[in-house]
Amino acid sequence: MVTTKVSPLRWRDGLELLDQRRLPEREEWVRIGGAAEARRAIRALVVRGAPAIGLTAAYALAAEARGGADLRRLRRAARALAAARPTATNLVVAVERVLAACEAAPPRDRAAHALAAAQRMHEQDAAACQAIARRGAELFAGQVAILTHCNAGALATGGVGTALGVVRELHADGRLVRLYACEARPVLQGARLTAWEAVQDGIPVTVLADSAAATVLARGLVQGVVVGADRIAANGAVANKVGTYPLAVLAVRHGVPFLVAAPTTTFDLSCPDGAAIPIEERGAEEIRRFRRCRACPVEAGVFNPAFDVTPPELIHAIVSERGVASPVTPGSVAEVAR
Ligand code: MRU
Repeated sequence: MVTTKVSPLRWRDGLELLDQRRLPEREEWVRIGGAAEARRAIRALVVRGAPAIGLTAAYALAAEARGGADLRRLRRAARALAAARPTATNLVVAVERVLAACEAAPPRDRAAHALAAAQRMHEQDAAACQAIARRGAELFAGQVAILTHCNAGALATGGVGTALGVVRELHADGRLVRLYACEARPVLQGARLTAWEAVQDGIPVTVLADSAAATVLARGLVQGVVVGADRIAANGAVANKVGTYPLAVLAVRHGVPFLVAAPTTTFDLSCPDGAAIPIEERGAEEIRRFRRCRACPVEAGVFNPAFDVTPPELIHAIVSERGVASPVTPGSVAEVAR
């Protein structure tokens, strides 16, 4: 079993989030009172990553239930939480499960049942990460260096991470030469978060500008690309942090396996293909500013999709806690999604 020192959230008689906007400069925990505060925190990227925002919403609904067991109020809060960000399907799944626990309980037990449901999801996500880590690492032989994008690590999940779970497993086996982390402009989840959590756990990491990924692959510096996912459609198309799709194209061009690691809560079989996945577009200031500096003229237009879609034919394998879909077809996806 692989371990980590890192966690994005904790329950201390209430929900607390590690403010990921402040990393790697400061480790600051913020208290979240209820659903409205959680929704704001998710939108502002205090917490991010598909499983982690799902768990945040689950605990926030439990916190909300402590403030009043009226079901109409809880349903309203659930709807607002589920819509905080549109792409990650984990958010919807988590909110639905906690709401179902509330609906099945008598009013005086609703808060306790909601918290138990959130904690159960947290444990399940941690277990899923472990299984994904093992299955993903088994797909590699010998010593390997891995390229990843964004942050699909402990900071993005309730456990050791999905893509970074695989990396942690390889490291624990003594088989990881190095982790290469694309910085993931504009918000820098790779440079700020993946590199930070790798350093916390003693994993050798090198950060590169997104535009340097082709050079890393062309020089043969990595033997695999492993990324997470925000939503996986029935045909195996994968929505993940913008910049993932070009990595898949590069991986195929250079004959390196491109793997997607994701728990079953990230699969949405009601989406037939990538075109049906809603892609979040974020504010222009993320592009117009680089931290505190202006990065382009205010008069310039901005295009800022937070995610892109990688088609199934570019993906060597999708690894979930239930198994490995390879080749990626509607049939193999359905098998590992349930
Ligand atoms: O905008 P973010 O930081 O929430 O995007 C996160 C990603 O794209 C992750 O790769 C994905 O959620 C998987 S996390 C296990």
